[in-house]
Amino acid sequence: MVNIIQPSIFFQGVSLKGQNIIEKSTKIGDYTSYYLDSNAALAQKNELAYSVQCYFPVEAGQDGGLFWGITNISSGLVGNEFIFTKGHFHAKKQCAEYYWGLEGEGLLILMKEDRSFSVEKVIPNSLHYIRGDQAHRLVNTGSSVLRVGACWGSDAGYDYESIQKEGFSCRVFQYDGNISIEKV
Ligand code: F6R
Ligand code: ZN
Repeated sequence: MVNIIQPSIFFQGVSLKGQNIIEKSTKIGDYTSYYLDSNAALAQKNELAYSVQCYFPVEAGQDGGLFWGITNISSGLVGNEFIFTKGHFHAKKQCAEYYWGLEGEGLLILMKEDRSFSVEKVIPNSLHYIRGDQAHRLVNTGSSVLRVGACWGSDAGYDYESIQKEGFSCRVFQYDGNISIEKV
């Protein structure tokens, strides 16, 4: 008799449900200094900025494994700046990642170590290949939650430090209802 293993993780709409799904929430107050208007960020410190649901089937750092996640970014502004994820480089610069749009609308900022950047529009069903040497940040420019899927190597690791110190060379604002992508 072959024992058929029943699936234990399911999509419920665009959410991931099941065993071993880890959820992490980040409030605006957890990264106020990342926003240009950090006082506005402080005033909104209790608001949810984004949550991530992750599936880590192997230990972090293990070579050759894959991690999977869904990031849900709130719609809204901090001052004039659209809500974004912290963004990071991978610790291992050869480790790439896929993002894909599930729901809502936003931008993916990709920045190299020399601070040159490119910006990709994220919409439902769009696929984004993030090179290992590109820091990546999602910005919700829409009027509803931006949900984005991700798949990355378990050995990729995270390097948040340089972003925390230097920030991204691109910020996205709203002025008079218009989106303004600015080099900083
Ligand atoms: C993993 C990855 C995503 C992000 C998530 C939250 O390599 O890129 O799962 O971790 O979108 O963003 P950060 O980690 O920048 O706070
Ligand atoms: Zn990543």
